[in-house]
Amino acid sequence: MKIRKGVITAAGWGTRFLPATKSQPKEMLPLVDKPIIQYVVEEAVASGIEQIIIITALGKHAIENHFDRSFDLEYALKQKGDEKRLQEIKRISELARICYIRQKEQLGLGHAVSVARDFVGDEPFALFLPDDLITSEVPAMKQMLQVYDSYGCSVIAVEPVAPEKTAAYGIIEPKQVEERVHQVLSLVEKPNPEEAPSNLAIVGRYILTPEIFTLLEKVVPGAGGEIQLTDALRLLLDQQGIYAYQFQGTRYDTGEPLGFLKASVEFALSRPDLGTEFREYLRQLQLPD
Ligand code: G1P
Repeated sequence: MKIRKGVITAAGWGTRFLPATKSQPKEMLPLVDKPIIQYVVEEAVASGIEQIIIITALGKHAIENHFDRSFDLEYALKQKGDEKRLQEIKRISELARICYIRQKEQLGLGHAVSVARDFVGDEPFALFLPDDLITSEVPAMKQMLQVYDSYGCSVIAVEPVAPEKTAAYGIIEPKQVEERVHQVLSLVEKPNPEEAPSNLAIVGRYILTPEIFTLLEKVVPGAGGEIQLTDALRLLLDQQGIYAYQFQGTRYDTGEPLGFLKASVEFALSRPDLGTEFREYLRQLQLPD
């Protein structure tokens, strides 16, 4: 079955970015001059997703405004004769068909996904966690859709992490079936290194079959007292296979300040209009030890 719908969870508090996120969504923080969530919407569109459902929460209006038309701004840019920016602003509002659902209580990722149930209906869907930004030649979700086409069941993105970092991720127990593809034998949310079944960590891209919604209702709060998607996936394993895919590309964890800074620097360096000058600037910085 073709994957038409993409869900983007954007309801979290963004506590790791306080005070910047006190009155603005963390998903609207810019990497250079583009908000994080726009990169994710662009990845979804470039992967062939036709309809996007963004899970938002109180205080997240800026996301809706970003993807809406802004006639006032368009008028001002037109008056100035700034055709380039005018076209870019219009393009953003035409990127995708987007609808928004509010998660009324932040009870965890699993709960945020369950909020999309009525809109997704009885079909498999793509899930994007915008903290994880992935740069790659072929969009990461597009790579995963190819794996889904071969196996016909849920696919989760994974990448190896340093063994001491397992407690920050969902970790899978893998059985490799082909290059970059593993059958998932089990999975656990945020295990300590000594309990982790491997160092393959779940990254924020999933293709999920709709059975996940019924299972999410059964899940009780797990790691961190939250309704965890990983726990519902473990229940799903009793019914269906799940595959993990080691995507090709570079992932940035923009949900924490250091990852955000790394992404900012690298994205700026790769910009044709800024890269050369910025590289020069970094070179001549006398970095103290
Ligand atoms: C979530 C998932 C976790 C996954 C991670 C990827 O955790 O629960 O399994 O490894 O995203 O970014 P969070 O980072 O929201 O705590």
